[in-house]
Amino acid sequence: MIRVLFVCLGNICRSPTAEAVFRAYLKKHDLEAHIQADSAGTASWHEGKSPDERSIAKGAERGYDLSRLRARQVIEDDFNQFDYILAMDKQNLANLQTLKPEGSSTEPTLFLDYAGLSQAEVPDPYYGGEDGFDEVVDLVEKACEGLIKELKKRL
Ligand code: 4NP
Repeated sequence: MIRVLFVCLGNICRSPTAEAVFRAYLKKHDLEAHIQADSAGTASWHEGKSPDERSIAKGAERGYDLSRLRARQVIEDDFNQFDYILAMDKQNLANLQTLKPEGSSTEPTLFLDYAGLSQAEVPDPYYGGEDGFDEVVDLVEKACEGLIKELKKRL
């Protein structure tokens, strides 16, 4: 089993979107028996909460169900449980690098490395308008396609 963890700041906008899109792709590619996904935030503010209503609505509009996801904070043990820890931006990547315990072989990386774009980060949509939430889904879909291709080579 390959385990993938998507990480943003609050775990209510970007990383739950990534989790929902990736789960849909796993289903579509019949990979659910081989690959598992979860998401978490580097901050604890929204622990236990549903995703942001704007992310739930935008996801639903584009065919992805975020409604049952609940926020949690990243923990040290995630570095033992997950094979891939994928950060939405450089600040969260830096926070993950600080959290990584000695002895874990899981090196956090940027999620958009898999998108084949020049853009490195999924911009934080939280304080912006609706366009930002569309952009999150666009970027997440591209990176999930690339990630699925990469993981298929490992199965
Ligand atoms: P996320 O977005 O990291 O994509 O979940 C944010 C959610 C909440 C906050 C910031 C970003 N916040 O400041 O509460």
